[in-house]
Amino acid sequence: MTLEDLKTLIREVQDFPKEGINFKDITTAIKDPNAFQYIVDQLYLKYKDKGITKVAGIESRGFIVGAALAYKLGAGFVLIRKQGKLPAETIKKTYSLEYGEDIIEVHKDAFNENDVVLLHDDLLATGGTAKAAIDLVREFPVKDLLVNFIIELSFLKGKESIASEQNIDVDSLI
Ligand code: PRP
Ligand code: MG
Repeated sequence: MTLEDLKTLIREVQDFPKEGINFKDITTAIKDPNAFQYIVDQLYLKYKDKGITKVAGIESRGFIVGAALAYKLGAGFVLIRKQGKLPAETIKKTYSLEYGEDIIEVHKDAFNENDVVLLHDDLLATGGTAKAAIDLVREFPVKDLLVNFIIELSFLKGKESIASEQNIDVDSLI
């Protein structure tokens, strides 16, 4: 498996979930055992020496690779969920999406001052989701925060909107 092989396994679905959106579908990559392993292994190699204590995955597509990566890094896993799903006390952020608006939240006891957090999601588009998730993690006194995506749609300039103002290490595989 190479990065080029992986790229060919990510399906593009035109006009989903609405007209004009070219949806990058990772299901075709992660159902392939070699591609799934490749994604997790590549991210593991990138982050294994960064002292990551927790991977925070963004619901829902950020849970899949995020959890596998946390296991491999020997880190804990934190769920950043869409509103109304987490049972205990939470902190919330509203954000606008490439298609719509939403609220994400995380448990108030999710992180502590000893945590080096790797925030993970499958895709960076406008950066609205990631920005809200970064703001959530920033509410905690964590030691450090790194951010990672499988795919970045660089033409949407999401990275600039999340990294420039906050000076955060942001990286994507594709
Ligand atoms: C998609 C994708 C990212 C986000 C990227 O999630 O998985 O989380 O949108 O868009 P942005 O950079 O413009 O904010 P979606 O909200 O569609 O939900 P899902 O992960 O539950 O499928
Ligand atoms: Mg998502």
